[in-house]
Amino acid sequence: MVDHIRVVGINDYHDASVCLLEDGRIRFAIQEERLSRIKNHSGFPYRALDTALRIGGLSVEDIDIFAFNFRYRPKRRDKKGWTDWCRSSQNLSRPFVELFRRSPAFRIYKQITRKRLLNEVRGLGIPESKVRFIDHHRAHASTAYFGMPHNSPDEPVLVLTLDGGGDGVCATVSIGKDGSLVRIASTPEGNSIANIWTHATFYLGMTPLEHEYKLMGLAPYPKPEHFEGLRKRLGELVQVNGLQFRSPLRSWTNQTLYAYPQLKQIFDLERFDNVCAALQQDTEEIVTRWIRNCIAATGVRNVALAGGLFLNVKLNQRIMEMNEVDRVFIFPSCGDDSSAIGAGFAAYVDCSAENGTKAEIEPISHLYFGLDYGEAYIEEAVGKLQHDGALDVYKPGNMPKTIADMLSKNEIVARFDGRNEFGARALGNRSILSNATNFFNTRELNKMVKSRDFWMPFAPSILWENEEDYLVNPKKIPAPYMILSFDTTERRKEIVAAIHPYDLTARPQIVYKDHNPTYHQILTSYKEVVGPAGLLNTSFNLHGEPMVCSPEDAIQTFMNSGLRNLAIGEYMVSKKPM
Ligand SMILES: [Fe+2]
Repeated sequence: MVDHIRVVGINDYHDASVCLLEDGRIRFAIQEERLSRIKNHSGFPYRALDTALRIGGLSVEDIDIFAFNFRYRPKRRDKKGWTDWCRSSQNLSRPFVELFRRSPAFRIYKQITRKRLLNEVRGLGIPESKVRFIDHHRAHASTAYFGMPHNSPDEPVLVLTLDGGGDGVCATVSIGKDGSLVRIASTPEGNSIANIWTHATFYLGMTPLEHEYKLMGLAPYPKPEHFEGLRKRLGELVQVNGLQFRSPLRSWTNQTLYAYPQLKQIFDLERFDNVCAALQQDTEEIVTRWIRNCIAATGVRNVALAGGLFLNVKLNQRIMEMNEVDRVFIFPSCGDDSSAIGAGFAAYVDCSAENGTKAEIEPISHLYFGLDYGEAYIEEAVGKLQHDGALDVYKPGNMPKTIADMLSKNEIVARFDGRNEFGARALGNRSILSNATNFFNTRELNKMVKSRDFWMPFAPSILWENEEDYLVNPKKIPAPYMILSFDTTERRKEIVAAIHPYDLTARPQIVYKDHNPTYHQILTSYKEVVGPAGLLNTSFNLHGEPMVCSPEDAIQTFMNSGLRNLAIGEYMVSKKPM
């Protein structure tokens, strides 16, 4: 008789991460970057694994399964590695590399890489018998299906995954029902619009697999007549064929994976903003066409999505708006970081089946799965601050009201409190907050700490009680994770600094009291003092760095930036005017 089933899900690829599950409930999850302080850390998440076991009060012996989010481990690449990978598309040797990938020798190479990984984990005291390799798209699909809240088990869900590729596949179509996922279609690697985004990001001089969102942010600006021809030419690179995608590019170069030379020709002498707009529109058209086909084939209108392409919040908005779609759930931070959670879910399902027990997975209701340092630790960190009287350090009686008062005076406040958020978005606990009624605050924020590209918008946190005041959301799709954008209402002026300045959409965090009571209270106080029920919320980090994790990170970022106020635990720390 097994007391508990404990599974550790691991992503040791880019955006490395670890998740600790106990009996289908997420107890802890964190990305390695928060601990290593290397953005989008690529490699084995030693620190995250160690921290997960420590926080759980567990040792390797207490864990039943260590589940990896790939069957075949692709080569790990850092920032330079991804840039080199894009550049290698032009190498004359590319077809020969591809021939090797399709030969029997590659199967042996795959086994060698798997053995290498097993040796790595054996060094951590993890026996081979506890290691499972979960198919990459099964891991993604598992996040979307099992992570989806309020889903009655007998109601079918259309589960779709789409990314740059993993385990030989870049897109899948599955039906989730009664606690199991059945895949009905898949698209082989090399036929993915996500690869086109990677190469386009590289083409525009930005970092592939990191800055794709900047292209999305630039896409609304050009007029359609300026990029229509470009969009048509792009549309020839990836097409929809029933429940699959298909690239007509020559297959021996492995198609979209190495499409940089073709893209260079298409983009030649085109303006940078037209490139972004054409790519965004083409993506929306082909993905919605694919989903329409999937719904027509299955009759299932309740959709769950995961995989890196669905980090595109504008694409998600188009999907939400489709007449054929009744409901949509996008797993937050749905790139490979969250596939550690999916690998954990899938391995738990398998383990329960082997034990003859029913897998009961708790859907996600918030993302505060990370580290909580506690008040004593914070007090000690604040006590160590050397400032020669340059700081005011005090404990306000009513922190939410104090923050609201500061925001009402156009002060910007960095906030550190409670457990840190899993994934790419700051959801109040490691956030920088600003009054969103004043558009010029975005300029202040960029000068102080963020240094964002001039075209990139900020995003709002909005009280759930007042969501309808600001967002057009006729299907009442819950939006607590900043993974979905919405059109805004006439009252958008009240949150003008936190919407896209050109197309006037917002990528909101709807704040529910039971997800984060103290952050909800800050918004409530802000509403009482300032009026609007939404404020600007951006991640607490210096440009190019991961979000702060520890009190030390928070204090260091505060001291090394133009930030003037830090609300850390029960303390308010303010720089005195010079
Ligand atoms: Fe993926």
